[in-house]
Amino acid sequence: MFAVQFDRFGPPEVLTVGRFPEPHAGPDEVRIRVRTAGVSPVDVALRAGLSPSSKKVPLPHVPGVDAAGVIDEVGADVIGFAVGDEVFGAVDVSRLGGASAEFAVLRFWTPKPPAMSWAEAGAAGTSIETATRALDRLDVRAGTTLLIDGAAGGVGSVAVQLAIARGARVIGTGRPESRTFIARLGATPVAYGQGLAGRVSALDVERVDLALDVAGAGSLPELITITGTAASVLTIADFTGPELGVRISVGELGGEPDGRHGLTLAAALSEEGRFRVPVREVFPMARAADAHAAAVRGPRQGKIALTAPGDHR
Ligand SMILES: NC(=O)c1ccc[n+]([C@@H]2O[C@H](COP(=O)([O-])OP(=O)(O)OC[C@H]3O[C@@H](n4cnc5c(N)ncnc54)[C@H](OP(=O)(O)O)[C@@H]3O)[C@@H](O)[C@H]2O)c1
Repeated sequence: MFAVQFDRFGPPEVLTVGRFPEPHAGPDEVRIRVRTAGVSPVDVALRAGLSPSSKKVPLPHVPGVDAAGVIDEVGADVIGFAVGDEVFGAVDVSRLGGASAEFAVLRFWTPKPPAMSWAEAGAAGTSIETATRALDRLDVRAGTTLLIDGAAGGVGSVAVQLAIARGARVIGTGRPESRTFIARLGATPVAYGQGLAGRVSALDVERVDLALDVAGAGSLPELITITGTAASVLTIADFTGPELGVRISVGELGGEPDGRHGLTLAAALSEEGRFRVPVREVFPMARAADAHAAAVRGPRQGKIALTAPGDHR
């Protein structure tokens, strides 16, 4: 099959496109003919050889954890889905990739709603799963005031909307250029970085109940000050968390992604016009190197998507 791949770790230019053996669906998986795939920080870190998981990646490797497309193989234990269904989702995290190709095997998925474009659907799976898992662990509900640090990014932009859909009030941090973007998502924007606690206390907010760190930029002490206790803070990206009493939420390797129900909810909210995946740039898979370079360029607002060539869809 056609696939984006790399046979050594390094800069985006190590990515090439060419032939690769086809994967097949396991008993509880589906295989899709990919229309679009996402590019996430984990893909970039793996390719660069900077992720602890890079060691586990057999080379050559096909990057990408998120994809959308049309089912062409259904695992024996899968019920309710058939060849020809349009779906979006993500690969098994233990595979660490496989989405930027003609065919991809999904570990969790949901029907693609008509209101969601292919670019949105292909880019969204793990961001929605991660955001849902984090909001569940924090028990974000109606009436909660939640601060999201890194609100404009792939996970943050999704988490803002899913928290608002639960009835929470959201304060979202970003760089000054992302102020309008964050406000359009429905959050109160505030500048990220040192002095955050002071800027938040200057807002017209009685108290901040919970804080979610999706940036991993070293703000945990400030987030503890803002909420009053480490127990009210959760991070998905700062491994110093436990030293400060802050919980970390990570996707379970090979396990059941416990936020998978989030995909179905996000799809329903999309149909109601209450949820969208902000996609800042779309590249053809042949330009995967440009897409990986763009993924680390700020201001990072929403997701990057790749489209499969028309003759491979
Ligand atoms: N634990 C898990 O299960 C899990 C799952 C998915 C992702 N992650 C991790 O979560 C992190 C975020 O993922 P993502 O997809 O949202 O990444 P992303 O799309 O690159 O977004 C990161 C955001 O953080 C912002 N940021 C940069 N410096 C900041 C600072 N000092 N304070 C606050 N925000 C800052 C960026 O803004 P600018 O670009 O404007 O600077 C950007 O909007 C990554 O480290 C990723 O590996 C973890």
